[in-house]
Amino acid sequence: MARIPLVAGNWKMNFDHLEATYFLQKLAWLLRDAKFDYRRCELALMPAFTALRSVQVLVEADDLKIHYGAQTVSVTSQGAFTGDVSADMLAQLGCSYVIVGHSERRKYHPEDDANIVDQVRAVLAAGMQPILCVGESYEERRQGIELEFAVGQVQDVTRDLSKDDVAKLIVAYEPVWAVGTGMVATPDVAREAARAIRSHVESAFGSQPAQAMRILYGGSVTSKNVQELIGQPDVDGFLIGGAALDVDEFARIARMT
Ligand code: G3H
Repeated sequence: MARIPLVAGNWKMNFDHLEATYFLQKLAWLLRDAKFDYRRCELALMPAFTALRSVQVLVEADDLKIHYGAQTVSVTSQGAFTGDVSADMLAQLGCSYVIVGHSERRKYHPEDDANIVDQVRAVLAAGMQPILCVGESYEERRQGIELEFAVGQVQDVTRDLSKDDVAKLIVAYEPVWAVGTGMVATPDVAREAARAIRSHVESAFGSQPAQAMRILYGGSVTSKNVQELIGQPDVDGFLIGGAALDVDEFARIARMT
């Protein structure tokens, strides 16, 4: 089954709505100039909540083929949950994706496995696709349990999901030691992790969801390392942090994917 690669930029807590608008306008212009084929590679941006409406307005006004989404979501649908944003609110803003379980959310917020499962369910119920982040820390890699750890995280989240829901999931393998450090995983490491995750999904849910599922790599991706990473079987694109803050660099990565 041919999977269309996805290049998703996670802006984290960067760019207000004006900066986001400027970035998106310039990106569209750069890609138009390069005759970028959006059917060959899908692009998505994950702004802060405050920029989502501006991104939606621009995407709709200019009929841009760029998708967008959020960096996290509430597990509840409405009510007295100060500061939270529901999946339905995001869906109404035209979001296609929501990042779930990013290592920075797991570290700085009380997001445990149970909460992450509930986020995945909320995103799917609202008709969007979760991008589930998994990946080991340096310590787990040192102990040689990195694949077990990353696959275990996928297993914990998918255990009670239906086959259809699993087929809609996108998994981002992001080893924590590679996030924002400049220490990108080698192509072998990315390939082995992606293969282990897909094999687990295949044995637990069958070949169809395993082959449909896109598995991204994340962690210090730049235009200098993107080509050898995308050449790896089972790596279906990237979740990009730092390099997604530079529009020329993001456009370069998109063209090279
Ligand atoms: O969500 C993106 C990842 O955290 C990767 O960030 O590309 O800055 O290492 P990075």
